Amino acid sequence: MSQQPRCQERHQAQGVTVEVTVAQVRAWRNQARSGALAGGIDPAEVDWLLYEGARLERLTFRLGQPGDRLSLSRSLEELTQFWQQRLGDRTPVQYLLGSVPWRNLNLLVSPAVLIPRPETEAIIDIILETQGADSAGIWVDLGTGSGAIALGLAQALCHAKIHAVDCSAEALKLARSNAERHGLGDRIQFHQGSWFDPLVAQQGQLAGMLSNPPYIPSGEIPHLQPEVSHHEPHLALDGGDDGLTALRHLVQTAPQYLQPGGLWLVEIMSGQSPAVCQLLQDSGNYEVPQVIHDFAGHDRFVLTQTNHR
Ligand SMILES: C[S@@+](CC[C@H](N)C(=O)[O-])C[C@H]1O[C@@H](n2cnc3c(N)ncnc32)[C@H](O)[C@@H]1O
Repeated sequence: MSQQPRCQERHQAQGVTVEVTVAQVRAWRNQARSGALAGGIDPAEVDWLLYEGARLERLTFRLGQPGDRLSLSRSLEELTQFWQQRLGDRTPVQYLLGSVPWRNLNLLVSPAVLIPRPETEAIIDIILETQGADSAGIWVDLGTGSGAIALGLAQALCHAKIHAVDCSAEALKLARSNAERHGLGDRIQFHQGSWFDPLVAQQGQLAGMLSNPPYIPSGEIPHLQPEVSHHEPHLALDGGDDGLTALRHLVQTAPQYLQPGGLWLVEIMSGQSPAVCQLLQDSGNYEVPQVIHDFAGHDRFVLTQTNHR
């Protein structure tokens, strides 16, 4: 489905620090997996910690003899501390490692930003499929968080100018670092502020707006998994009483900033598409919206464009 990104990426390698035997890693892995199963956590996360977090070489580990030596970028003691935090505090493994794979990027994350989700990756494919990789113009990612969408967009649309906005200074700091470490720092302008507010100079000029805004109804947040409700920033989750506060604002304000025919694309919570389509229709400023489903079959994105009136 996705086209290959055409812009180059620079990637930082992590240094190797520790030598262990295959037998030691197997024993550690077995114990950690038992803890995961007992705690209702997917044991595959143990392998993620080993392969991504400690740079364990898969084949050598799988095929090695018990006495064979392996290199890890983190000690087993450090991994044990991580795993205890994972089981005890339900801290997401992505925050423990400080990074997450997203499309072909490796993004730094901290509890200041939402962990970018796999389903959000499709927002870049939608742009490539509907606009083509040669699209230029000025594009914005509102509520950029870790910068995932802005970076994906900068890779996908090599001729576009990208602006990324977030009201969180901490999130923006991380998003900037992510852009720098992937060689995209000069492609994206970052702004601190609320939604379109920092983009007054771009009024009427934007080719497209992308956003994955906070959309969870406030009352549902305490009932989410503890990994989410206790660890991810509520600023990134809380969509107000009905979950639609930010979406409503984006429907109302975007026509002032988009050029005629400018693209409006948001991620939503499954089940919100009828309400969002109604808001778009009531505004009178948009073409008939299209609801796009994710791989699990849930309504996940709403796509439209401003009309030419
Ligand atoms: C659901 S997260 C999305 C993060 C990232 N775009 C992603 O897809 O992983 C929503 C983001 O919107 C930001 N946000 C919340 N209210 C905002 C506002 N009024 N103006 C700008 N950004 C806001 C949060 O700080 C958070 O980074």
